[in-house]
Amino acid sequence: MNVLGLTTQKGGAGKSTLAISLAVAAVEAGERVIAIDLDPQGTLSAWGKRRGDEDENLLVERVEPHALAQAVANARAQGIATLAIVDTPGVFASTVSVAVASIDFALIPVKPTIIDIEAVRPVLGLLRTNRKPFGFVLSQVNAASSARNLDAAAALMAEGMGNPPMIAARSDFIDSAAAGKGVTEWAPKGKGAAEIRFLWRYVRAQLDGVHNG
Ligand SMILES: Nc1ncnc2c1ncn2[C@@H]1O[C@H](COP(=O)(O)OP(=O)(O)O)[C@@H](O)[C@H]1O
Ligand SMILES: [Mg+2]
Repeated sequence: MNVLGLTTQKGGAGKSTLAISLAVAAVEAGERVIAIDLDPQGTLSAWGKRRGDEDENLLVERVEPHALAQAVANARAQGIATLAIVDTPGVFASTVSVAVASIDFALIPVKPTIIDIEAVRPVLGLLRTNRKPFGFVLSQVNAASSARNLDAAAALMAEGMGNPPMIAARSDFIDSAAAGKGVTEWAPKGKGAAEIRFLWRYVRAQLDGVHNG
């Protein structure tokens, strides 16, 4: 079982939105997923309740930070999932530290603004100290501001990563989450669904790299 973390201490970056749609896209690609909500705000677990529990390949659980390592160990021992996706809170540094200890790869959503890019420093420090591999995804991008998006991508690449995948700001992300769906279920032929499938392939490749490397 691989463990993906959505991490950044910046609230509103898109962690929960991406955790939701990545969980569904991963199941569609053949994974059995346990989506773990570490955030007291409970965005992911509230989505799980709206969704209902008829999907045996997608479990959604709210877990207290101190119980995360055990929850991951149990899921691994019981073989109930091939992938755990951990959604973390924006503000609680101690919770993010706990999450980082359990993950194999961290995905960091960043909005394409200087303020948001500067705000990734603390989580990068944490990930580097813990020797955890990470990658960025440009989040809530305005598809019309391509110069700004390229500048943002260049700034993130300066951290030593490749060209980051991009997810645009789209109502499909908001509406699908409200309906207890992932964007690939809500509008399977839409652009948001295509972006999420691309992001899922990127994440899968990163996880494969971690385990082979
Ligand atoms: N790609 C997107 N398109 C449109 N709205 C988005 C997108 N990603 C996030 N949002 C909206 O932005 C806000 C913050 O997103 P959220 O996923 O809760 O961020 P975080 O979990 O990092 O705090 C929410 O209102 C969410 O609906
Ligand atoms: Mg959140």
